Amino acid sequence: MQYRPLGRTGWHVSEVSFGAWAIGGSWGQVSDDDALAALHQAVDSGVNFFDTADVYGNGRSEQLLAKLKKSCQQEIIVATKAGRRLPKQSVAGYSAANLNAWVEDSLRNLSTDCLDLLQLHCPPTELYERPEVFEILDALVKFGKIRYYGVSVEKIDEALKAMQFPNVQTVQIIFNCFRQRPAEQFFPLAKQNQVGILARVPLASGLLTGKLRRDSRFPPDDHRNFNRHGQEFDVGETFSGVDYATGIEAVEEIRGFVPPALTMSQFALRWILMFDAITCAIPGGKRPEQVADNCGASDVPALSDNAMAEVRRVYDRKIRPIVHQHW
Ligand SMILES: NC(=O)c1ccc[n+]([C@@H]2O[C@H](COP(=O)([O-])OP(=O)(O)OC[C@H]3O[C@@H](n4cnc5c(N)ncnc54)[C@H](OP(=O)(O)O)[C@@H]3O)[C@@H](O)[C@H]2O)c1
Repeated sequence: MQYRPLGRTGWHVSEVSFGAWAIGGSWGQVSDDDALAALHQAVDSGVNFFDTADVYGNGRSEQLLAKLKKSCQQEIIVATKAGRRLPKQSVAGYSAANLNAWVEDSLRNLSTDCLDLLQLHCPPTELYERPEVFEILDALVKFGKIRYYGVSVEKIDEALKAMQFPNVQTVQIIFNCFRQRPAEQFFPLAKQNQVGILARVPLASGLLTGKLRRDSRFPPDDHRNFNRHGQEFDVGETFSGVDYATGIEAVEEIRGFVPPALTMSQFALRWILMFDAITCAIPGGKRPEQVADNCGASDVPALSDNAMAEVRRVYDRKIRPIVHQHW
């Protein structure tokens, strides 16, 4: 496992880290035993950074991470998020009272007295015109409740605006073979500002693992079933906003130039790591085998120029018209 600097925090985090949404909820049933085995596999594979949120399984994901921390020797860094407990998103909802209460809940769930990194969880775009929200976060740092803060965003414009606040350490954004626009304008500026980038949905919700088929079915409590058309939250969070049939076709094209020594998941993650502005990819994993597979992406050689060009070609032809200008 290779490590990269996380913003200006001084921390070096595993370039393949762990996304802990699926072990919380919204992805079908995952038992505590499987979830903990997946987390331990991550630590054994060198992962030292875990992304979660207060709402993943209503605190379950954070509580599982607290169990992991208790039972392993290695130092691990946990990034959590706040804001999605609001019944309806509004800037006014990001008040000092709400933020303080959400932070207290996360501290309890994570069994700690200071959160490593708190991210605003895809707040409304207007929030980036409201410095007072960032002043509340500065106060939380000052009072020792959080060490650092960052944001998770839907849109590139939000990422650019977030970086105007000097204490934003990280931006979490969707970036994968099917979501390439962040590399254009945002990556060079993030690098210049030493803002860490967490690449979320790196496997396009499993599409880029190459295991899904045209007729794959998902359980009713899996967002790949209930949010296929953005019914519950931003459609971009499910299959990266690519319609399923087109995604499957594009995956079949990409499969043709995955080197034999790599699994398709490793290829998709290695593609992300080819961008040096990226701090880490945070693939979700429900079982140890998935986590071991994903972590292997850090140890494989760089992709060839030809492979990078082929992914770009598939993106330009099939995916770009669907997603490029939307986020
Ligand atoms: N708004 C936000 O801030 C936000 C939104 C979305 C995600 N995130 C973060 O980003 C993380 C990653 O995104 P994501 O979990 O949505 O999607 P993802 O990482 O693209 O896909 C994860 C899913 O793919 C399957 N998978 C993973 N590795 C595999 C492997 N090696 N082989 C076969 N299947 C594999 C698993 O589901 P199955 O086995 O069921 O197929 C897993 O749950 C989340 O966990 C969360 O921490 C944040």
